[in-house]
Amino acid sequence: MKFTLPIALDSFSKATSLDELYPLIHHQFFTAGWHKKRDSLWKSPRTEFRPMHWSYQLGKLALDQAGNWMDTELAERRNLLLFNPVEDNDYDTVRTLVAAYQMIKPGEYAKPHKHSPNALRFVLEAKPGAFSVVDGVKLPMLSGDILLTPGGSMHSHYNESDACAYWIDILDVPLIHLLEPMFFEPSIEAIQTVTSSPDQHEYWFKEELLIHSSTLLSNDSAVGNSNSCTQILDSQSQIVTQCLSYHHLPLNGTLNIPRTTVSRIFCIAHGSGTVNLGGLEVSWKFGDVLALPSWHEACFNSNEKSRIFEVNDLPVLQKLGLFRQ
Ligand SMILES: [Fe+2]
Repeated sequence: MKFTLPIALDSFSKATSLDELYPLIHHQFFTAGWHKKRDSLWKSPRTEFRPMHWSYQLGKLALDQAGNWMDTELAERRNLLLFNPVEDNDYDTVRTLVAAYQMIKPGEYAKPHKHSPNALRFVLEAKPGAFSVVDGVKLPMLSGDILLTPGGSMHSHYNESDACAYWIDILDVPLIHLLEPMFFEPSIEAIQTVTSSPDQHEYWFKEELLIHSSTLLSNDSAVGNSNSCTQILDSQSQIVTQCLSYHHLPLNGTLNIPRTTVSRIFCIAHGSGTVNLGGLEVSWKFGDVLALPSWHEACFNSNEKSRIFEVNDLPVLQKLGLFRQ
């Protein structure tokens, strides 16, 4: 849009009413604060994002079918993004986080790259031989494991087993989109060089250790979950924008998630049940993903002994002084 100051001065002085003035000042990129189209302040949090549920069974079928035509040579990643149906969004799962189902077939690899967003993988189904390489460290991907790829780390994924490997990716890309410090860089290596293969690593949370961890809390009394336990993973020195936790529910257990300013994604690690997710009543089972936008509450009930992995943006809200309950 082209404009010059003399024209603005001239046109402003000719206006004989506010209604005549509004389009003239708008043309010069001013908005009259008392006459704007949208509210800028409101009494309590609003979100366009909806409570959502995605079926792993459906996601897996879609990935298997896509795998007939799309290989990891053509796609940077063979993944299905779980988008929240708001605005013109086809990417974000909640305001600050995105989740995706990803699959690689036997013999395939997902090429190395690095980017400013932080990422993690929750492995759903994988046989020995599936692994990631993160900054040269080879990290096995076995069902139930959680792997971190902090922002800026070079990472790639491989499947040397005889079965397809499936996992859930969770990244803070929507937060990076909001704040805009995005950098992405492919590797010059087609295959990432492995420099070590440790038995344990700060980027690797093995399922067996999560289940039997002595760090398990006896209960989560702060939110009234008398018969479920919540275990916070020690991951925030690696990924500062996300809080990772594991909820353990017994048979007929209850997990209450209070209404807070936090946006949350839940992945079903084991078991089945039902949930009232901000008013959405759904059944859940292994591999499903649930999104709970900020200022919504949820109540999970288990039909069997169950485990639910949660990723949320609590550390961001806390650091910015914006956490409320
Ligand atoms: Fe990546």
